[in-house]
Amino acid sequence: VQAAGLLPAVALLEQAARTVTLTPPPWPVNIADYGCSAGHNSLLPISSALDALRQRVGPERAICVAHTDLPGNDFTALFETLTTDADSYLRGDRAAFPSAIGRSFYEQVLPSESVSLGWSSWAIQWLSRVPAPIPDQVQVAYSRDPAAHTAFARQAAEDWQTFLGVRSRELSPGARLVVLTMALHDGEFGYQPLLEAIYAALTSMIKEGFLSVEEVHRMVIPTVARSEAELAAPFANNGRFKGLGIEHLDVFCEEDRIWNQLEASGDTEEFGAQWAAFSRASVGPSLAAALEGGGRGPRAAEFINELEARIATRLAAAPERMLIPLAKLVLARENPPC
Ligand SMILES: C[S@@+](CC[C@H](N)C(=O)[O-])C[C@H]1O[C@@H](n2cnc3c(N)ncnc32)[C@H](O)[C@@H]1O
Repeated sequence: VQAAGLLPAVALLEQAARTVTLTPPPWPVNIADYGCSAGHNSLLPISSALDALRQRVGPERAICVAHTDLPGNDFTALFETLTTDADSYLRGDRAAFPSAIGRSFYEQVLPSESVSLGWSSWAIQWLSRVPAPIPDQVQVAYSRDPAAHTAFARQAAEDWQTFLGVRSRELSPGARLVVLTMALHDGEFGYQPLLEAIYAALTSMIKEGFLSVEEVHRMVIPTVARSEAELAAPFANNGRFKGLGIEHLDVFCEEDRIWNQLEASGDTEEFGAQWAAFSRASVGPSLAAALEGGGRGPRAAEFINELEARIATRLAAAPERMLIPLAKLVLARENPPC
């Protein structure tokens, strides 16, 4: 889902790489990848950016790629991916130099004015913190609690401004940052059958004594989908925010490829299994963190397996196409005045 969803933004990154202002030689060209996870989904965008940059700077010029994520990220997996994956951008490019930084992107993670090209996919929907409990769901978009909606909306606005402010410091004049993130499409968050299946699975686990009511009350997925207006809000004043401007912003709905496969194969179990695997990878650890004993405690692995199995069964029993709304943006750092 994520690998396919980011494709439309790769074209924007490639386009930005062709035109962005570059630091003069002998300095390296710096690319930053914000929220890289284990790096699989960074390979294609970074390769595309490198191809476009190589046409401009030739094969010898050093290009540094800083992959950033939270300190607890599996950076070993990232370097293994970069070293062994057949699609790694390191293959055939001896002047590309990867590094990793374990620090939240809500802080400055790279030196001021050092980044020519930035990329961030499926990451900035994660808030810097859980702003409030959600009493009746794990995803605020499907909660009926006004206090939760208010707290999440406020945090989302604050985090977006913080993210932009620190990126503005890191980007060099004339740099570009391409962002792909979850979005609201006509007010819709999407993924409704999946979120209903997750919550129903958790409720059934309370009934069967697998989870306590308190544990489920603590379970929150701290992600938000922002509308086009919310993404544009910091730029309301003259189209600028801390030296950044929006060059491109649109909200679109990605195809549900798992649904397309179901239509072709009729295999409802595979449909349930694939969406359940997506939830396991994307939100399993966040939910497990609320367990008594924590996300690395003795019950975590069993909980995640059980949750995945229950989601798969529910979705297979009543398959529905998922709405997958996304936003893609290109942000431009102002050139200095002549
Ligand atoms: C769903 S993964 C996306 C991975 C990859 N970019 C992709 O497109 O598939 C989201 C990543 O964002 C990271 N992330 C979430 N909050 C973050 C923060 N405050 N600072 C840095 N990374 C963060 C998570 O740790 C996770 O690795």
